Amino acid sequence: MTRGYTGTAKFLHWLIVALLIGQFYAAWSMPHIGRNTAMSSLISLHFTIGVVILAVAVVRLAWRLTHPEPAPIDGVPPWQTASARIVHWLLYVLLLALPILGWINASWRNMPIVMFGHQLPLLVAPRDPAWGWTGDVHALLSNYLLLALVGLHVAAALYHQFVRRDGTLGRMLPGR
Ligand code: HEM
Ligand code: HEM
Repeated sequence: MTRGYTGTAKFLHWLIVALLIGQFYAAWSMPHIGRNTAMSSLISLHFTIGVVILAVAVVRLAWRLTHPEPAPIDGVPPWQTASARIVHWLLYVLLLALPILGWINASWRNMPIVMFGHQLPLLVAPRDPAWGWTGDVHALLSNYLLLALVGLHVAAALYHQFVRRDGTLGRMLPGR
């Protein structure tokens, strides 16, 4: 019998997937953010979902560091296990780095980040010349690197499910 992830790991995995879908919906529908862009409810929603993703990612990483992944399935080639690990850790790094870059950039733009009625502190001084790059890097890493890695990750899950039929997907699905 192959062991799967804990119920908590599964819940946190699919919660992040749902939050990311909402986050890209907000990111791609909100007005393009430039020097004189006024706050709008979609921009606010993008900030709020992003900070929630950061909080869930911290909890998820803490869970992962105290609850190792299940042992590899028999017969899966070691290079696949190794490349899955690299992609998983890159995803964790992005889930932490992207919201922090977004928060720094919103601070740099002096745009308020309001969470459930409370304004969060600015992480850097508005228009501090050292931090102007964070907006472009945040948007590029989100639109390209994150989506490319997620695409690879989902393609691998489908390959294991429909080509190798080795039960990898079941390790992350509800149930056993
Ligand atoms: C994992 C979480 C996040 C993802 C995946 C994400 C994704 C994105 C994407 C795709 C864009 C570009 C939209 C476009 O194509 O025009 C963007 C822009 C932006 N996001 Fe996020 N975001 C996240 C978290 C946050 C957070 C937490 C904040 C602030 C608190 C934030 C603030 C911004 C800002 C200020 C921009 C405009 C940057 C610029 O173009 O200069 N984001 N985000
Ligand atoms: C429909 C979309 C998705 C499917 C079908 C899927 C499927 C899976 C499966 C089957 C595993 C377990 C792999 C194994 O046992 O070796 C897994 C793990 C993982 N997934 Fe996804 N995933 C999806 C979307 C995402 C997204 C959007 C992210 C984050 C950006 C993500 C991040 C992760 C991470 C970090 C792990 C490793 C968990 C750990 O070892 O702590 N996944 N995923």
